[in-house]
Amino acid sequence: MRNVRLPDVTSDAAASPSSRAARVKLAPSLLSCDFTQLGAELNRIVTADYVHVDVMDGLFVPNISFGFPILAAARRASPLFMDVHLMIERPERYLREFAEAGADGMTVHVEATPHIHRAVGMIHELGKRAGVSLNPGTPLEAVRPVLSDVDLVLVMSVNPGFGGQKFIPQSVERIRTVRRWLDELGSAAELEVDGGVTPQNARLLADAGATVLVAGSSVFGPQGPEVGLARLREALA
Ligand code: DX5
Ligand code: ZN
Repeated sequence: MRNVRLPDVTSDAAASPSSRAARVKLAPSLLSCDFTQLGAELNRIVTADYVHVDVMDGLFVPNISFGFPILAAARRASPLFMDVHLMIERPERYLREFAEAGADGMTVHVEATPHIHRAVGMIHELGKRAGVSLNPGTPLEAVRPVLSDVDLVLVMSVNPGFGGQKFIPQSVERIRTVRRWLDELGSAAELEVDGGVTPQNARLLADAGATVLVAGSSVFGPQGPEVGLARLREALA
C-alpha cells in the first residue's frame, strides 16, 4: 500500500480559522485590576495565558504606573507567564532589574531607544523572551530590522498610557501586515495586540493574525475577571 500523506492538523497552515482563534492567548492587563487585592485578582485570572504588566515612566507615556516591587509581588502570587510591557524611555537601563523581579518576557518600544537591536539582544542574554512594540503612529517598517530576532511583536491599538481607551480601527490592517511579514520569515513569534480589546473585536483580531490579546478593562470590569475572560473565550470559540 502506498503511503498517503495526511495533512498535518497541528500546523497553522492546515488549521481552520476557528481553531486558530481558539488557540489565541489571553493576557489580562494588571493595570485595570484592584491593587488592594492583587493576589486575589491574580487567582481569579489563573485560566489566562499571560499576566500583562504595564510599566510606565511618566516620560515615554504621560502616566506613571508601577515598577519592580509590584512585578515581584505578582510573580510570587501567580504561576503565569509575566509579560512585561515597558513603556519607558531607554528601557535597556532597567532590563536586568525587571528580569530579576520576575519578568518572563519583556517588550520594548522601537520609539523608546535608538538601540532597539541591542535591547533585544540584552533581553535574550538575560534568558528572557524579547518583544518589540510600536505605537499607532509609528510606521510598521520600524520593526522590520529586528523582526527575525524577536519572540513577540506588540502592535499597540491605542496610544499607550492609559487603560479603557477606544480601539483604533486602522490597527487591524497593521496586524495583517505584520502577520504577513512574520509568515514570510517563517517566524513563530507571537503577534500581540494591546488596547481596546473586547469580546466584540476579539475574533476580528484573531482572524487578522493576532496570537495574543491583551485586555484590561474588558477583563477587570464590573462583571469580574472570570466572566470577562469567559466572554473573550466565547468570542474566540
Ligand atoms: C495601555 C496599556 C494597556 C492597557 C490596556 O498603555 O499598554 O495594556 O492596560 O487596557 P484596555 O484593555 O482597557 O485598553
Ligand atoms: Zn500594555
